Amino acid sequence: MFSRLGKRSRRQWLEEEYTPFGYGQKRQIMMSIARFCQINRPIGGYYFEFGCHGANTMRMAWDCFHHLFDWSYVGFDSFEGLPEIQAIDQMKIWEKGKLKTTEEEFRRVVTRHGMPDEKLTTVKGFYDQTLTPALRNRFLPGGKVAVAYVDCDLYASTIPILEFLKDFLQTGTVIVFDDWNCFYGDPERGERRAWREFCQRNPHLRFEEFVRTSEGMSFIHLGPPPQP
Ligand SMILES: C[S@@+](CC[C@H](N)C(=O)[O-])C[C@H]1O[C@@H](n2cnc3c(N)ncnc32)[C@H](O)[C@@H]1O
Repeated sequence: MFSRLGKRSRRQWLEEEYTPFGYGQKRQIMMSIARFCQINRPIGGYYFEFGCHGANTMRMAWDCFHHLFDWSYVGFDSFEGLPEIQAIDQMKIWEKGKLKTTEEEFRRVVTRHGMPDEKLTTVKGFYDQTLTPALRNRFLPGGKVAVAYVDCDLYASTIPILEFLKDFLQTGTVIVFDDWNCFYGDPERGERRAWREFCQRNPHLRFEEFVRTSEGMSFIHLGPPPQP
């Protein structure tokens, strides 16, 4: 389809412009969170990441946060790639088993990047099986969540994540959705739909929109409203 010269210039454009653009979008969100948490300090606890795969996000989180905050980093993933794709999540780019990185490889990439082994916890398994009250009780003594980064693409995968997160929210927790505009930005699909339904089920929880890019969206969890 592409001529030899065309292929080379396409590869160069992908490497030098297209990929850095996507990386920059993510970094914009991460660095904005660093500023937010520093200004509103102290916001302690965990950095939770749901959807780990190539460890690009986890490495970026470490780069953007560890100089300022003493957080613990937890990666939740099947480490077997995407689950069975349900009817509502059908789209050409999603397939069962796609986006697989093993737990060992993920840990190796992140620790080689500089995160100390003891700072990183990984939880292997599909969310509908692993994100249980027992797991919640294992993490709750460590405190609340400073940042929850949701990068699991699918509506069905996002539902158990949000339910699990509920008990970890504190004033200032930032929740990021990496795939806000998947499914053509349709609010009836993907992470958008799971978020809307979660907010409807929990009207007592207050959130404020934070940073938005062409791909991602984020929200701040607010505390109780001030008394008059
Ligand atoms: C787009 S990738 C994440 C990319 C990653 N943040 C990075 O930096 O490379 C999506 C990830 O979500 C995981 N995932 C999606 N649905 C899941 C589910 N229901 N349970 C566990 N993991 C799931 C997949 O295994 C995959 O690793």
